[in-house]
Amino acid sequence: EDSVYKYYSDGEWKKCSSGKAVAIINPTTRKTQYKVQACSQAEVNKVMESAKSAQKAWARTPLWKRAELLHKAAAILKEHKAPIAECLVKEIAKPAKDAVSEVVRSGDLVSYTAEEGVRILGEGKFLVSDSFPGNERTKYCLTSKIPLGVILAIPPFNYPVNLAVSKIAPALIAGNSLVLKPPTQGAVSCLHMVQCFHLAGFPKGLISCVTGKGSEIGDFLTMHPGVNCISFTGGDTGIAISKKAGMLPLQMELGGKDACIVLEDADLDLVAANIIKGGFSYSGQRCTAIKVVLVMESVADALVEKVKARVAKLRVGPPEDDCDITPVVTESSANFIEGLVMDAKEKGATFCQEYKREGNLIWPLLLDNVRPDMRIAWEEPFGPVLPVIRINSVEEGIHHCNASNFGLQGCVFTKDINKAVLISDAMETGTVQINSAPARGPDHFPFQGLKDSGIGSQGITNSINMMTKVKTTVINLP
Ligand code: G3H
Repeated sequence: EDSVYKYYSDGEWKKCSSGKAVAIINPTTRKTQYKVQACSQAEVNKVMESAKSAQKAWARTPLWKRAELLHKAAAILKEHKAPIAECLVKEIAKPAKDAVSEVVRSGDLVSYTAEEGVRILGEGKFLVSDSFPGNERTKYCLTSKIPLGVILAIPPFNYPVNLAVSKIAPALIAGNSLVLKPPTQGAVSCLHMVQCFHLAGFPKGLISCVTGKGSEIGDFLTMHPGVNCISFTGGDTGIAISKKAGMLPLQMELGGKDACIVLEDADLDLVAANIIKGGFSYSGQRCTAIKVVLVMESVADALVEKVKARVAKLRVGPPEDDCDITPVVTESSANFIEGLVMDAKEKGATFCQEYKREGNLIWPLLLDNVRPDMRIAWEEPFGPVLPVIRINSVEEGIHHCNASNFGLQGCVFTKDINKAVLISDAMETGTVQINSAPARGPDHFPFQGLKDSGIGSQGITNSINMMTKVKTTVINLP
């Protein structure tokens, strides 16, 4: 029982009253690695109450003091990068080096948010009335940005630390309080990260972290009357949340089927390198991973050969050894990926490598000659399996990209910048990368998805603004 990680409520680490725990399975060993508290609805209510009262005082805390605490938390987070990264390796099988980078990137994100926050929240507007027809100069309008209240943050398993702080830091700098519901895989990494905020000395109740079963507290949290804004990253659950949430500002980053369009004049070595990085890093478990390659027929053979050569060099194995391809997060995820592979096989896709799986570990696989009737042409494997569709015109590529229900990012490879810009304009995605793989960072860039890929725009500046509301005071002169 003592080995069950405590949850964080009202500035203290607590055990849940039911004595129940949720097991976290190590994707590599497929054995229980950690246990976390299975919080109840009553415990969620308690957290919501303290979040509400802590927020009132926090909103009156000077902005520079809020920033100072965030800088402190960022430094503590970076100091603890090794133990946190170790949890990421055990819980989500992230390769060791990438796990460390995630924590360092998170510290940088928190500091940047503190700096950005003091600038953008330290400024308001002043308007005068006589610019609108019929008005004299008798009204002065002052605007400022006020916090929303309690922000509920729900990050996904693939960046449990980074996608948690990308919600926590903007919420706090803007004067909100924060309730964190970590993903099951990644919960212990989140708890360690929260401990860094605890050590920084934030007021009691301002941040809390409730762990537990989605079936018990998931809807209860997202539909809780005490929540004033939800920031969610993950899969389809986000669509369900947005239907149930009511009149709340929502920030949602959901799935993607990021297309990589390759023109005849592209630098194929550059494309191949980016397909490896974009398609296979963290075994394809990124919303911004390249999930379909749309290549002009005339260069398809050459490109597939180059990618094959690089796939052969990928190291497959445990995350502790810093392998490139590591076990996918759960057995059900591995089964889903396998289902997509088998469907493509039945329908005649060309396997560039032999399909191989051991437990949750799936060897990298490039599928050539994929056609639109195959599930993998449209669905998101979230695994190291990448389909190639050969196209005969750029329009065909754009059409495939836009026929997707997703619209997160996409990329286009060509030496002709004019064509690239026209294609970017035609692609219905939140971002188009020219001559590089899709990616969210640098973290102050706007990040958004169209269609089923999300609501709102993220990135540090946009998240701060999203977690505030404009308040105006009008001075009426005689
Ligand atoms: O999984 C979704 C993440 O927001 C992607 O972030 O592009 O830095 O891997 P990334």
